[in-house]
Amino acid sequence: MESLSHIDYRLRRKQFYAEVKNAVAVLPSAEHQVRNPDVTFPFRQESNLYYLTGFEEPHCVALFAPHSKTPFQFFVQPRNKTKELWEGKIWGPEAAKSRFGADAAASSATEIPFDEAFVTAICEAERLYYRVGLDREWDSRIFRLLEVAKKRLGRTGRSLWPIFDPNEVLGEQRLVKTRAELERLEKACEITADAHASAMRLVKPDMYEYEVEALLFHAFRIQGAERLGYGSIVAGGSNACCLHYVANNKRLNEKDLLLIDAGAELDYFTSDITRVFPVGQVFSKEQREIYSAVLTAQKSCIKMARPGKTMRDLHDHATEVLVDELKKLKILKGPTPQIIKKLEHKRYYPHGTGHWLGMDVHDVGRYYAQRLQDPRKLAPGMVFTIEPGLYFGADSDAPAKYKGIGVRIEDDIVITNQGCRVLTSGVPKEIEEIESLRSA
Ligand code: GLY
Ligand code: MN
Ligand code: MN
Repeated sequence: MESLSHIDYRLRRKQFYAEVKNAVAVLPSAEHQVRNPDVTFPFRQESNLYYLTGFEEPHCVALFAPHSKTPFQFFVQPRNKTKELWEGKIWGPEAAKSRFGADAAASSATEIPFDEAFVTAICEAERLYYRVGLDREWDSRIFRLLEVAKKRLGRTGRSLWPIFDPNEVLGEQRLVKTRAELERLEKACEITADAHASAMRLVKPDMYEYEVEALLFHAFRIQGAERLGYGSIVAGGSNACCLHYVANNKRLNEKDLLLIDAGAELDYFTSDITRVFPVGQVFSKEQREIYSAVLTAQKSCIKMARPGKTMRDLHDHATEVLVDELKKLKILKGPTPQIIKKLEHKRYYPHGTGHWLGMDVHDVGRYYAQRLQDPRKLAPGMVFTIEPGLYFGADSDAPAKYKGIGVRIEDDIVITNQGCRVLTSGVPKEIEEIESLRSA
């Protein structure tokens, strides 16, 4: 797989400009996050800025003004030999132009170059795209500069510029994946599926959850993934009933199931897979019943996914199938529509059936069409998860024999012209396959 060339970033910017039109967009970089004094968490660029530039440094900001002579102005850290000795290469303003395609570039070491460029650009624009509320310092800087710009225009009667979230545009743009983006997602899914399959082979009773977490991380990294897409969930037994369990510090019991929800991130695209298998060699009767119920719902949803359907259709369908299965197991009673209307199923199925997937695990893009309550139709190139589950925590009101069982089965799929393609089929989910892997 070739790395994305600067032509790809230019094409993304071109598409972005076509939507932004006579507006200015400001995208500040991510900053180092302090972990503890003078140690920072590993740096990851803010997804939208990376998407448009491929630039991986903190302390920078992109100023887009498509209507101007310099549509892409980039303010980046200046070169600094001492800093580079300790922390590695800094590209600097020259490379921001020659290598990253900026039309103009300057240092971000002082505020003046950006502030001046912003005021000039916004005076000629109609709107501002800037994400308010993430960073107080940036918010107050932008609000102050808007006042400066308004004053500079004199007595024109111009009101303050309306501010839009850049995700209005970039969310939609990122939602439908290009071929190059799909290649990355596919690779991230392949790596992740392979790691889950390894875990399925290698887990032994009495291992600690963190040993499995380490095994997954090792499998991700040796296949070239840069990092995790989100904190791995490695949950033995009833820990699976805590939806975002990340402590991963308990010992695995041979009689329990193990739920693993983990995804590798490759070139800023992440996978998101959940599998559940016995810590021992086989499912117990009750574990098998719950697992089969979830698998039936999951496979039925995948069958349903195609252009024209909506995420809500899939969720409604998953809910109906799960309720029917719970009725067969005598865990719920009564007519299905009534159970759903009263939200009785939520005790055991408390979450949604899927989410967009891409650079962010819960990726950007609207789930609705015009109004919030109108679901949008799925279209080719959209990528999302299908992940129904059933959870019977220790203090749930489920029959005692099911208590402590938590099952979720999660695959990543892309909508195609005809239907959909599962990107994560490299890891087994059928009971027979899993049991034969576990006892091999
Ligand atoms: N791993 C987070 C999720 O499945 O949404
Ligand atoms: Mn998910
Ligand atoms: Mn997940």
